[in-house]
Amino acid sequence: MNYLADARPTTLTELGRMRADGEKIVMLTAYDASFASVEERCGVDVILVGDSLGNVIQGHGSTLPVTMEHMVYHTECTARGMQRAFLIADLPFGSFQKSPEQALHNAARLLAAGAQMVKLEGGEVMAETVRFLVERGVPVCAHIGLTPQSVHQLGGYKVQGRTEDSVERLKREARALEQAGAALLVLEMVTRGVATDITAATIDMATIGIGAGPETHGQVLVLHDLIGVFPGKRPRFAKDFVGGTRTVEQAIRAYVDDVKAARFPAPEHCY
Ligand code: KIV
Repeated sequence: MNYLADARPTTLTELGRMRADGEKIVMLTAYDASFASVEERCGVDVILVGDSLGNVIQGHGSTLPVTMEHMVYHTECTARGMQRAFLIADLPFGSFQKSPEQALHNAARLLAAGAQMVKLEGGEVMAETVRFLVERGVPVCAHIGLTPQSVHQLGGYKVQGRTEDSVERLKREARALEQAGAALLVLEMVTRGVATDITAATIDMATIGIGAGPETHGQVLVLHDLIGVFPGKRPRFAKDFVGGTRTVEQAIRAYVDDVKAARFPAPEHCY
């Protein structure tokens, strides 16, 4: 399918329409203009300039060293390669936790660099900040479950939602973030059951899973996991779509087609 034949820009309203119609939202990370342009040619709906760039571009063991300067630079690079997809940029560690005013200041820098929405990690404690941003015209994607910026507090990159307490906390966080105005919610490495329950309980907010099972309103992957270019072990939830023979473009198209048709993630990618 030629997804760019319909080159209308993807807006927040369009993402809401997709959620309402049960059309899966396909999100993928990019960090530069070249990959952004290939991704939208392949039909990716939402491009995320993730702070995962700390791992896959900069070679760090975590996302913690990523700065606002890095995020602004990669957001500008990525935005130049795009015409149609919706662009989200991550607020990196330390750029939004101090106060809602600090978050607004840094969100404005990402919007000026070309982002249409900012993503921030954290649950109920971030609800006030989410509300502050949304009321001032900044669309927000929240992110709960395994939040890599809290890796030291979580004691490693561990699946969340394995205990009753953890399940209840995740549900509470999702509710608080939706009530605060988050339009999207990334659920990372949570058990399939809790992702299903949170998704079913949403009213307007769309859930985007990564290692959260197939029931969420959409899926996100880190580009380097999808094309099999990463140092170390591929996480269970990721799939190498290149499979030895495909081009990068064919691999991204296969990911888009598999998410749209609810073929990915398969049971072996879930917890
Ligand atoms: O930084 C990132 O790429 C992310 C995704 C893994 C959701 O937050």
